[in-house]
Amino acid sequence: MTEQGFARFAQQLKHEHGLDLSLYKEAQIKRRLLSYMQRYSVADYGGLTHYISSAEKRSHLVDYLDINVSEFFRNPELFVYLEQEVFRRLTAKQKSLRVWSAGCSIGAEPYSLAIALAEARIALSRGIWGTDLDAGALHQAAHGLYNVADVRNVGDSRRERYFDLENGNFRVKQLLKSMIEFQRHDLLCDPIPHRFDLVVCRNVAIYFTEEAKLAMLKRFSDCLLPGGVLFTGATESYPTHHTFGFRRIHSCFYEKVGD
Ligand SMILES: C[S@@+](CC[C@H](N)C(=O)[O-])C[C@H]1O[C@@H](n2cnc3c(N)ncnc32)[C@H](O)[C@@H]1O
Repeated sequence: MTEQGFARFAQQLKHEHGLDLSLYKEAQIKRRLLSYMQRYSVADYGGLTHYISSAEKRSHLVDYLDINVSEFFRNPELFVYLEQEVFRRLTAKQKSLRVWSAGCSIGAEPYSLAIALAEARIALSRGIWGTDLDAGALHQAAHGLYNVADVRNVGDSRRERYFDLENGNFRVKQLLKSMIEFQRHDLLCDPIPHRFDLVVCRNVAIYFTEEAKLAMLKRFSDCLLPGGVLFTGATESYPTHHTFGFRRIHSCFYEKVGD
């Protein structure tokens, strides 16, 4: 398993599928790739390139890397804080919000936000911007079809109100779909067209290098309006958040201090 082999594989993945492995911690990614290759009897990176030539296999590999695992209302207690406290703070100043779900994967996160906003009767200045690098994940997001495990944190009344049952699966209703604009976007380098009141970026930076994480924080700081809030993943911590003009208001929530 050579360095060159890995470099070639990574280059091809970036060129053809838009997934940039250099932004992730190399040792972790290599460990996962190696165990994947052992499991499917693939001899080397050249073989792996060949093995994932179909979209289905590629998406399976990305799943295995844990890169786009998601679910509705991930860490429910943090969504409770969002709904009870953060919404109140944000709407104290203005009635309609601009919301970005960055690295939204299969859409469970922006749809959860849409449910929470709809229930709180908070208007949106424009649709929730749901972005991700992975076109396959965005495709599922746009279809809005989920299995029981995906919606395990959604209470019965919300399931009834916002989903249609379809052969044992759950399809989000049009009302939620109409609240979200999905787009392929690299949060580390593509232009960010608006400023936001709430940026939700969770479980995206877990594999990022330190440098990529700081670049991400800087970008979020630049695009948040003063008083705006960044909602991060439960296992992430950003000890240098002050440097980027953030104040920690709760576990996983950072407020952008005035410009
Ligand atoms: C583990 S999922 C998290 C999904 C959701 N935020 C959650 O917490 O349930 C991470 C997602 O980040 C996306 N991602 C990784 N790097 C990205 C980047 N540079 N720009 C946009 N999305 C990225 C991956 O494609 C993947 O769908």
